[in-house]
Amino acid sequence: MRSRKPWPGEKPVLLGMARGLLMLVPLALLSWPLATAARGEPLEDTLARVFPLAARQLEATASTLPETEYPSETLPDGTWDTTDADSFTSGFLPGSFWALYEYTGAPIWRTRAERWQAGLESQKDRTDDQDLGFILFTSFGNAYRLTGQESYRRILLTAASSLSQRYDARMGLIRSRGDLDDEDEFEVIIDSMMNIELLFWAARNGGRRELYDMAHQHALSVLESHVRADGSTYQTVNFDPRTRMLREQGKEQGCRWNTTWSRGQAWAVYGFTVAYRETKDPRMLRAARLTADYFIRHLPSDEVPYWDFQAPNIPKEPRDSSAAAATASALVELSQLETRPERALRYREAARDILRSLASPAYLDSNRRTSAILLHGTAFRPHDRFDTGLIYGDYFFLEALLRYSKLPERLTSREPQQREALLSAAPSTGEAPRNRERLFRFEEGILTPEATGVDRIVGPVTLVSEGALVGNGSVRIPDTFPAFLEEHFTDTTDFSTSFYLRVESLPSENTDLVSFLKGRTPLGNLFLRRNGTLFARNGPFEVGPRSNPMEEGELYRISLSQKRESGSFAILEASLARGDEAFECPFASSRVRLSTPRADRLRLGATTGPLDLVIDDVRLDTALP
Ligand code: GLY
Repeated sequence: MRSRKPWPGEKPVLLGMARGLLMLVPLALLSWPLATAARGEPLEDTLARVFPLAARQLEATASTLPETEYPSETLPDGTWDTTDADSFTSGFLPGSFWALYEYTGAPIWRTRAERWQAGLESQKDRTDDQDLGFILFTSFGNAYRLTGQESYRRILLTAASSLSQRYDARMGLIRSRGDLDDEDEFEVIIDSMMNIELLFWAARNGGRRELYDMAHQHALSVLESHVRADGSTYQTVNFDPRTRMLREQGKEQGCRWNTTWSRGQAWAVYGFTVAYRETKDPRMLRAARLTADYFIRHLPSDEVPYWDFQAPNIPKEPRDSSAAAATASALVELSQLETRPERALRYREAARDILRSLASPAYLDSNRRTSAILLHGTAFRPHDRFDTGLIYGDYFFLEALLRYSKLPERLTSREPQQREALLSAAPSTGEAPRNRERLFRFEEGILTPEATGVDRIVGPVTLVSEGALVGNGSVRIPDTFPAFLEEHFTDTTDFSTSFYLRVESLPSENTDLVSFLKGRTPLGNLFLRRNGTLFARNGPFEVGPRSNPMEEGELYRISLSQKRESGSFAILEASLARGDEAFECPFASSRVRLSTPRADRLRLGATTGPLDLVIDDVRLDTALP
């Protein structure tokens, strides 16, 4: 293994002694200086503070978890939630052990790394998932870098070959999800930028030259499809594999189609930096700069981003320390590859500032609140997984510190940092503007089209005059099919609806709950699944991720909207909120290509299968001429 060079002013003999201590003294007996990170603390002092703490936390993890379990994020009691080997997170514990091995040289860390990574070898043959880089380059990649062991090289080459099968030469992209032969959709997420390093590495270490070409082309294609002009990124992009045309640009873990999920941005900075290191293609340097500059420009004053740079309630939004850590690591590398000295300095200083903040009491888990090293990570805010430790945040934090410690010169000056105001372009909330909305009132009386104001009622839809959800009355749609309300309007490209809903019993099959149609052709739809989750569709194609599950008997508010954007593209959004809570981030939010852009009717209820529902307060907004 390569050992760390002494830092300027550090005596190698003391370094050796410190390593010895870390190896020999029971960790519980050591009292490391875990207190504050002074604002101007030299990074070498930060390392000397953080690595012992990391050793303590990782040692506790190693002694409590079986080696077939891989930590992912911390639970409310602070312990690790774990996964099997097949999760994208499984390589980060062995990877963190390798970081400790690199820092200390102590064989115990190598032993631990090898024990946990042994169970990951099985992943090398997978072709059903793109995350072989996340899983195997963090574990076996570091293992080979630090030990040169031939068996590790072979495992990595096999993994690269498996991943390469997900590359589609017609698309010039590695398919992130789905079957290799899926002819209906081809999805690529920004996270894919973290898997190309495995291919670049393999091409340099005995693999086929094509692996390099695939990784390079993938990065070029992602630059075209996922990176916006201002350097921000879409997380998910879907193509039609038959025509190769872009079908959808949207989000999964972020807030909306046009906001930026901060960890996705981190993956972009990291991946384009790797792509430039490997190819020296100036387009990759421009992409790394563009995405890095966006990330840095949108950091709050403590240098740790919110989970989405445009999350709706900043500053009362969760941070994501893992996005900060991964970007810091990428920025250290980018600072070394930069051809312009003032930029190199800026990236290095940005990395240093992020690392200082992560090493401060606000983010470093000095008091063992959790099993992790860093606090305040956000795995998946729309699914309420936030403010936890994250094993990948810990891994990239250690990687960034190690990379920083190897920088050839220390920083001497500081450029003023530009902080742009957070983008305030408030995206639409999915709610209808008051002056154009139409409200259906289900008043006392017999439910007829005249009484409700809707154009058509199909099936046994009944008025519930008592127990209204909101307002004076509710419509009960019984578990019978068909049974729905239908409202007609002059055909238009821009429309939205919102309503209250209580699902009395979940359907036995996925069922269309809301549809905007042109005649009988569905445009935007909302499907209710058996488990209570909703998903949106654009014609026959699912759009964006699914909602959190609704529970039987609970009150929710739902909205669905389409707004023309440019050409044949529109923004399709769907939101779900509990009771009277405000709509915040929609569960689905995408820029989509529409084959039929204009709708002339809304259907609400059991249009494709039985649903037992109570709905109320339906608002319809169409951009009527
Ligand atoms: N999908 C990987 C991540 O959460 O970053």
